[in-house]
Amino acid sequence: SIVNNPKCLPPKIHLGQYEIDTWYTSVYPQEYALLSILYICEFCLKYMKSYEVLLRHNSKCKLTHPPAREIYRKDDHSVFEIDGKSNTIYCQNLCLLGKLFLDHKTLYYDVEPFTFYVLTKNDESGCHIIGYFSKEKYQQKFNLSCIMTLPAYQKQGYGKFLIQFSYLLSLREERIGSPEKPLSLLGRVAYISFWKSAILDYLIHNSDKNNICLQSLSQATSIDPFDLADTLESQDWIKIRSIDNDNKELMFSFSSQQTEEHKSKLAKQKNTIDSSALHWIPPP
Ligand code: COA
Ligand code: NA
Repeated sequence: SIVNNPKCLPPKIHLGQYEIDTWYTSVYPQEYALLSILYICEFCLKYMKSYEVLLRHNSKCKLTHPPAREIYRKDDHSVFEIDGKSNTIYCQNLCLLGKLFLDHKTLYYDVEPFTFYVLTKNDESGCHIIGYFSKEKYQQKFNLSCIMTLPAYQKQGYGKFLIQFSYLLSLREERIGSPEKPLSLLGRVAYISFWKSAILDYLIHNSDKNNICLQSLSQATSIDPFDLADTLESQDWIKIRSIDNDNKELMFSFSSQQTEEHKSKLAKQKNTIDSSALHWIPPP
C-alpha cells in the first residue's frame, strides 16, 4: 500500500523484532520508499517489499551477525568492523538505514573510503544491530563521520558507547580525533555529555583539580582541544580572571559537588565499554 503522508519515506520499517517509525526520508528506490512499511533483514540489511518476502529471505539468509570481523565482545555486546570496500552492499544498506534517522545529507553509495563499526546485542538467535558509526579511512582529523542508535535502543548509553569507542580507536592510533561537523542536535547532546564526563574523569584521576592543561587532557583522551574548550565553555567551567590590566588568567572552575554528581552518574551508567575487550590494532 502507498502512504498518503510523503513526509518520511518510508514512514516505517520492520527490522528484527521492531517496527520503527522513521524520522527522515532516505533514498531507497522509489518502489520501496513508497511502501507503508519497508521490511529489512536485521542481519544483511537487505530491504524487501513484504513480510512474506522477508520470511522467504530469512529461511535462506545465512548471516546471524554483520558480515565482518568482530573486534569487541563483552557480555552480550559486540562490535564488528566492516570495510566499505569489501562489503559494499552491506555498507550501502547500512547508510540507507542510517539516513532514516539523520537529517543532513550523508553518503549512501560511495562507501568504499569508509569503515563502519556496528554495535550489536547478542542472544542465541544472533547479533542484533543496535547502532553504528562510520569513519573515513584516510582522514587525519575526523574520527567519526556518522553515528546512529536505532530508536528502540536510544537513551540507554549506546550513543556514548559508540562515541567512546571512536576515541578508543584514536587512542590506539595515537591520534587526536573529532567528529565531523555539523552535529545534529541529538549528536551534540551526546557528544557534550561524553566530553563532560571525560573531563570530569580526568580531574578525578588527576589530583590538582584547579589547574588542568588542555594539551595533556587532550593527549590522555584523544579528544581535540577545541572540543574540550567548547565543552568547558558550554558548561561555564572556564572563568577568565584579571590579574592586572594586561594579564588575564584562564581558570577552570569545578565544584566538588560536580565531581560527586559525576561519580554517582558513572556508578549508575549502563552499557559502558570495557577497553580490554577491544581486539584491534590500527591498520598500517
Ligand atoms: N532528548 C534529550 N536528550 C537525549 C535524547 C533525547 N531524545 N536522546 C538522548 N539524549 C541524551 C541522553 O540523556 C544522554 O545524556 P546524559 O548522558 O546527560 O544522560 C545523551 O543524550 C547520550 O545518550 P545515549 O543514550 O548515550 O545516546 P543514544 O543511544 O540515545 O544516541 C544519538 C544518541 C545521537 C546517536 C541518537 O540520538 C541518534 O541516533 N540520533 C539520530 C542520528 C543523529 O542525529 N546522529 C548524530 C549525527 S551528527
Ligand atoms: Na553514513
